[in-house]
Amino acid sequence: MKTIIEPFRIKSVEPLRQTTPQERERFLEEAGYNLFLIEARNILIDLLTDSGTSAMSTEQWAAMMRGDESYAGSESFGRLKRAVQDLTGFRHVIPTHQGRAAERILFTVMCAPGQVVPNNTHFDTTRANIEFRGARAADLLCPEAADTQARLPFKGNMDAAALERLIRTEGAGRIPLVMLTVTNNSGGGQPVSLENIAEVKAVASRHGIPLYLDACRFAENAWFIQRREPGYADWTPKQVAQKMFSLADGCTFSAKKDAFANIGGMLCTNDDRLAEQEKDLLILTEGFPTYGGLAGRDLEAIAVGLAEVLDPDYLRYRIASTGYLGDHISSHGVPIVQPPGGHAIYIDAGRMLPHIPRSQFPGQALAVELYRHAGIRSVEIGSVMFGEQAPHELLRLAIPRRAYTQSHIDYVVEAILEVNQRREQIRGLEIVSQPQFLRHFSARFRPL
Ligand code: F0G
Repeated sequence: MKTIIEPFRIKSVEPLRQTTPQERERFLEEAGYNLFLIEARNILIDLLTDSGTSAMSTEQWAAMMRGDESYAGSESFGRLKRAVQDLTGFRHVIPTHQGRAAERILFTVMCAPGQVVPNNTHFDTTRANIEFRGARAADLLCPEAADTQARLPFKGNMDAAALERLIRTEGAGRIPLVMLTVTNNSGGGQPVSLENIAEVKAVASRHGIPLYLDACRFAENAWFIQRREPGYADWTPKQVAQKMFSLADGCTFSAKKDAFANIGGMLCTNDDRLAEQEKDLLILTEGFPTYGGLAGRDLEAIAVGLAEVLDPDYLRYRIASTGYLGDHISSHGVPIVQPPGGHAIYIDAGRMLPHIPRSQFPGQALAVELYRHAGIRSVEIGSVMFGEQAPHELLRLAIPRRAYTQSHIDYVVEAILEVNQRREQIRGLEIVSQPQFLRHFSARFRPL
């Protein structure tokens, strides 16, 4: 059979609420044309993020009942730790309430003001946490990724030669760690090859610098490697993931993505001395090292999710359904970042709306139009999010795991194609007010 189906059936449902075009126009006005400020009950299909929005499985819900809520030495932590060590091999597993808490602890312990942290592309919280520490976040994405239309297998790779140059100009002493984000979220959800991870590890090791993975979407990355990289066709996704982690010295992880959990994160390392300092900080702001800001039941959900996400049937469906959205809109002329990524489709709004200059935020304008037309929420990843450093003006349609069916996606395709047909009429926006950090969350806009 050629048809790829959702490899699950639905036991519990949440109703979706339709709104009228007049209502949506009013919600937009009230929210200052910022979709983060619209109430979720007024969204029909929510593609704002794939983070914390997964549908959990019956096994996860069952495991939650087993949650051991002991303050210290919780059995649930023991189960999570064994699951993580089996997958990653890391000695220290430090639970946190979500990914950015792991980042904050990692950079507080490892970074000093004036230092530089390279990555393929830093996610916004990673960059912000590094900058908050007074250090600099450097993006060293491979040059092939600059062309959003190039269909290459591993456009998330780091430019290893640029890393070597950066280390030589800065001096190894000013680079406390190198990071690789798998898959590369801000760069189009594109995967990183095992060859590239090994190459980056070799450069970093030569200079005595540890390599950390930002491993939020490790399973989707492993699937792309298994399918695309020569030599891994016979490997299981779990074996590929284990190989990825074996090349790193530690990782940060948000369990809200590839562990199907609604909350949770982790910081892992093989360094005993760092782990001690990290746990000291953890106790200060997150909690005791056997729960780290989570309930025992959350630890259980993560432990089960980490095994479920590596099921080949799930990953085949997951990557195929993301590709389905991307291929259907791009075959009708909507420019997307090619090839489709793992967790999201990124429309190249700069290319789709060439009449809107960057200063008038084409990605945001498209996000607003898609909500106005069909009640779909997406997120701008461009000049609103990254200011003048934004490499592209993208609109991200992130797909929550196991939450929407093919007919929901068909609706999204139809809506995007209708908006695309009258794209010349879409107008830009200007910012009316904005906060100091991470302005995309709360800035307000005015249509031009
Ligand atoms: N790293 C990457 C690559 C991410 O995508 C995220 C979150 C984080 C770190 C932070 O994790 O949210 O648990 O604190 N990304 C979400 C998104 C928010 O929509 O892409 P967190």
